[in-house]
Amino acid sequence: TRLVVLVSGTGTNLQALLDAASAPGYPAVVVAVGADRDDAQGLKRAERAGVPTFVVRLADFADRGEWDAALAAAVAAYDPDLVVLAGFMKLVGTAFLARFPGRIINTHPALSPAFPGVHAPRDALRYGVKITGCTIFLVDEGIDTGPIIAQAPVPVRVDDDETSLHERIKSVERALLVDTVARMAAFGWTVDGRKVTIP
Ligand code: GRF
Repeated sequence: TRLVVLVSGTGTNLQALLDAASAPGYPAVVVAVGADRDDAQGLKRAERAGVPTFVVRLADFADRGEWDAALAAAVAAYDPDLVVLAGFMKLVGTAFLARFPGRIINTHPALSPAFPGVHAPRDALRYGVKITGCTIFLVDEGIDTGPIIAQAPVPVRVDDDETSLHERIKSVERALLVDTVARMAAFGWTVDGRKVTIP
C-alpha cells in the first residue's frame, strides 16, 4: 500500500509511520511526504528516511482552488493508495477530495464528534471532560466530520495543561495511526457501503 503523507508541523505522526514502514511485514510504505510550508519539520524527517518530499504553498497560487488542484496533482504524481493527513493544518478542497475519493484519512486529537477544529486539547480542558482521545477518520468537506475509522481514549489529569494533554494524546494517536493504516492496508475499508481495497 502506497502512502502519501501530508504534514504542516513537527511530524511525529509521520515519524511513527516511517518507523513502522521500515520494519519487515508492515503492509504500507511512505512513498512521498508533502507540506504546505517549507519549514515543516516533517519534511526533514522524510529526507532523513530517504523519502521524496514536495511543498505546495497556498501563497504561490491565485486562490484556494488553484492551490488545492496543484496539491492534488503533486500527490497524484506518487500514485497513492491512501493519503494520510498527519498534522496537515489546511482544509483540502473539492478538487483534492474528488481526486482521491474515500482514500484520504486524517487524525484528530479528540473523540469526534467532540471538539472539532485546531484547539481540540484546549477545548477539552475548558469543557472539563475527564476522558478525551484521538480519532482517525475519512476526510470529507467538513472540519473533522468524516466517517470515523478508529478511536482511542486518553484520560485527562487534574494537573494537565494544553501541552501535557496534547502530548499524552499524541503518544496514543501515533500508535493508533500506525495500527489503523496497517489494518486498512491489509483488509481494505468501506465507504458508503462500498468496499475499498488496495489493488
Ligand atoms: C496531532 O495531534 C494531530 O492530530 C493534530 O496535530 C498534531 C500533529 O502532530 N492535527 P505531529 O505534527 O504529527 O507531531
